Amino acid sequence: MQVILVGLPGAGKGTQAERITASFGIPHISTGDMFRRAVASGTELGNTLKSYLDSGRLVPDEITIEVVRNRFKEEDAQRGFLLDGFPRTLQQANALDVMLDELQRPIDAVLYIHVNEDVLLSRLTGRRICKNCGATYHTVFQPPKQEGICDRCGGELYQRADDTVEAVKTRLEQYQHTAPLIDYYRNRGLLHQIEGEQPIDKVFEDVSKVLRAIE
Ligand code: AP5
Ligand code: ZN
Repeated sequence: MQVILVGLPGAGKGTQAERITASFGIPHISTGDMFRRAVASGTELGNTLKSYLDSGRLVPDEITIEVVRNRFKEEDAQRGFLLDGFPRTLQQANALDVMLDELQRPIDAVLYIHVNEDVLLSRLTGRRICKNCGATYHTVFQPPKQEGICDRCGGELYQRADDTVEAVKTRLEQYQHTAPLIDYYRNRGLLHQIEGEQPIDKVFEDVSKVLRAIE
């Protein structure tokens, strides 16, 4: 199955993606994660991307589309995928339609995790991520058992460079490019709105209901 996650920065896309891949067995394709790995490994692509990521601006469409196109060629993507953070502009959505036509893999569902903007600043500034396995925590809403240490693998937790008040502001402004996608997919009958301000497990219950119906 081919599923897309959309929502404001901090809506809970990555948190739900972890659970979806664990329960439904489809690979998680997150452009944000791929870009951060490129920055961390200091590749030429990574050096180009760093200033966009750190400041919260969108990476240019041509680069982003090329990265996704290459990712689709990997073997695990042949059994479907969960796209997280892509597409993020109408141009990316159009490019995705062309790629999926070529692959003969239609979009089954678009999950729109809806939250109000006022919850996002505290969610993002309190977020912590495992350096080793990528698991997501929150200092208040989803705290690890031992401060600064991943429950799952014992790895050290860190804070993303774009989870500062200033970068979050820019990311929220950039969302104006993504907001039109909601109507784009709603008009095609693909959109499922999920209430993202419920507890994490309850959000996942609602997500699972939609996915079980299309599985
Ligand atoms: P990306 O990595 O995609 O970041 P984002 O969209 O800003 O989304 P986040 O990862 O910040 O939030 P999330 O919704 O996954 O929230 P999470 O589950 O972690 O992109 C980063 C950058 O890469 C962009 O700024 C851009 O530069 C570039 N980029 C990426 N894709 C691109 C594209 N397609 N085109 C151009 N540029 C691109 O949750 C947040 C926190 O809240 C966590 O701490 C979590 O524990 C907590 N939480 C989650 N759910 C709940 C809940 N229900 N209740 C309470 N707390 C919760
Ligand atoms: Zn870990």
